[in-house]
Amino acid sequence: MAEPSPNTIGPHPHRPDGARGMEPATDLPLAREALGVLEGAFEAFERISVSFSGAEDVVLVDLGARILGSDLPVFSLDTGRLHPETHRFMETVREHYGVTIETLAPDPDELARLVRAKGLFSFYRDGHGECCAIRKIAPLGRKLEHLDAWITGQRADQSVTREGLPIVQDDLAYSSAAHPIRKFNPLANWTGEDVWDYIRRREVPYNLLHDQGFRSIGCEPCTRPVGPHQHEREGRWWWEDIGDKECGLHAQNVVEPLRIVEP
Ligand code: ADX
Ligand code: SF4
Repeated sequence: MAEPSPNTIGPHPHRPDGARGMEPATDLPLAREALGVLEGAFEAFERISVSFSGAEDVVLVDLGARILGSDLPVFSLDTGRLHPETHRFMETVREHYGVTIETLAPDPDELARLVRAKGLFSFYRDGHGECCAIRKIAPLGRKLEHLDAWITGQRADQSVTREGLPIVQDDLAYSSAAHPIRKFNPLANWTGEDVWDYIRRREVPYNLLHDQGFRSIGCEPCTRPVGPHQHEREGRWWWEDIGDKECGLHAQNVVEPLRIVEP
């Protein structure tokens, strides 16, 4: 019997009737800008990759695949605590674009030490820093040792910590004098609405958690749906202050220059 498809491209409740056949989304000025940023980035750097969280940043994959097709390099930090819907979505994206998504796992010994000492939910008691450091930041650091640039789906409107986010920046957290790293944020000037407009027009697959009220999506225990009048970031690490809601992937947004790697 044929294996069932792990996910569908999904119903499109966000798509207005008749959206099929609309103008290609690359006619949108912001999409043209982002495509230009990606083209420049791929020309300038050979060792470069898209960081894909399994959420709305699929727009980056859609844009990037227009340039590099199935050769688009994509990686994802699989923390071990993602929703099953996110895993299914990653598989949908892999199949839909024919890309390889490199999944990066935490170090099992570091993880075992934390879980043995503090259990599986220590972040609710003493903050998300320690768990994120093992499950996200360390694997990202190991990946960035082999890259000269990476591409993120961060947007300035996502958080107070991301206001003024530039499209291109030096990665102050992960660069060292011997190994400078550039960071591209092609969606920096997009709003959430722009992202959904693009997803609708291009019929881009999306994480089905978005249909359950989830806006910003991270790990399962640290993400919850938000109401219509709540900011998307309120669904992430909701027990912590808004200014603390960066996990170290984007540490330089909070304190500049906050370094993960010694200079
Ligand atoms: S986070 O730091 O708070 O978790 P957020 O969820 O807003 O980040 O995502 C911003 C960008 O960071 C994403 O568009 C993606 O490029 C990158 N990112 C976040 N989580 C991951 C992940 N698990 N794997 C790969 N990239 C990620
Ligand atoms: Fe751990 Fe939560 Fe951070 Fe995921 S988001 S790595 S579960 S603290």
